[in-house]
Amino acid sequence: MPGPTADLFADDALQQPAGREQIGEQSYVLRAYALPWVERLLPELRRVLAQSPFRQMVTPGGFTMSAALSSCGELGWTTDTRGYRYSPLDPRSQQPWPALPDALRELAVLAAADAGFNDFAPDACLINRYVPGAKMSLHQDKNERDYSAPVVSVSLGLPAVFLFGGHARSDKPQKISLFHGDVVVWGGVDRLRFHGVMPIKEGVHPRMGRQRINLTLRTAG
Ligand code: SIN
Ligand code: FE2
Repeated sequence: MPGPTADLFADDALQQPAGREQIGEQSYVLRAYALPWVERLLPELRRVLAQSPFRQMVTPGGFTMSAALSSCGELGWTTDTRGYRYSPLDPRSQQPWPALPDALRELAVLAAADAGFNDFAPDACLINRYVPGAKMSLHQDKNERDYSAPVVSVSLGLPAVFLFGGHARSDKPQKISLFHGDVVVWGGVDRLRFHGVMPIKEGVHPRMGRQRINLTLRTAG
């Protein structure tokens, strides 16, 4: 991640207007919602990644994911040839995942409430890093124990086209552009909808450099 503050101006120039867009019965894009939090989030994120760095994981099918992953919180999502699961330990260090940072938790709880989900209590945050060309295939988030809690997804850095599908993999997904600072919340009847990310386009973000980082908070345990 590049250094602090000098380029905030450039960021403001690109800023999308804040506002809430409904994308499903119980799903919203909260535009620019995280922007006021970014300068608190980035040092926290840096601490998390110093302890549990990004790494590329392998799916049960034997494919290496193009996004690099890390986690923080009581539980971290991992995948290897044995399957997908949540684990209290980072498999790389065999130590607990870094704690969920305070600002990230506060942001996620407020965003969830603004999308109609009160009392969100996240215990897991998956951190995805996409360089240009990286993508995320359509999938459901279904390794969590409790589907009554929503998923809260914070986008930082390069823009992405988020695919928001239906309950069947074959349902044609909506294409939703996500920018630095946007937060997506999906839950309730939409909690198990398929979603993914199209390959990230080449570019350099003024604050985050040549990458997109996505943080997805869930109640997993
Ligand atoms: C995910 O579904 O894990 C990531 C979604 C995103 O990167 O926007
Ligand atoms: Fe997901």
